[in-house]
Amino acid sequence: MTNKFELYRCNICGNVIEVLISGDGHPVCCGEEMERLEAKNDNLNSPDLTEKHSPKIENLPDGKTCVTLDNHPMTDEHYIMFVQTISQDKTEAKIKYFYPNQQVKMKTDIPSDGLSARSYCNIHGVYVSK
Ligand SMILES: [Fe+2]
Repeated sequence: MTNKFELYRCNICGNVIEVLISGDGHPVCCGEEMERLEAKNDNLNSPDLTEKHSPKIENLPDGKTCVTLDNHPMTDEHYIMFVQTISQDKTEAKIKYFYPNQQVKMKTDIPSDGLSARSYCNIHGVYVSK
């Protein structure tokens, strides 16, 4: 059984997929069941955490929302591959891809109320903020 917006990774080829419509089956890649990626959460208030993964969600004066992630490497070997925002009622989602040396920042029209934002690090996996 899959649920909308779940992420799955193939541990053989590295393929990552997202569920658009829930179903009874389990995604398979390279002949094996894919691993469901559990979202983790940084403690954003911890001063000890120098490398952060959970996106920061900010209200903008124009009613839009800005999502950033500042304290994470953006090198060829270790970087944030994408950030995705999902509305509280799960009817809207937006994704933005990033590449090494880029600043992780995206704007969305989805109001910040109840918005969740998640990031995908190529080494550490999925992190979420609400
Ligand atoms: Fe990371």
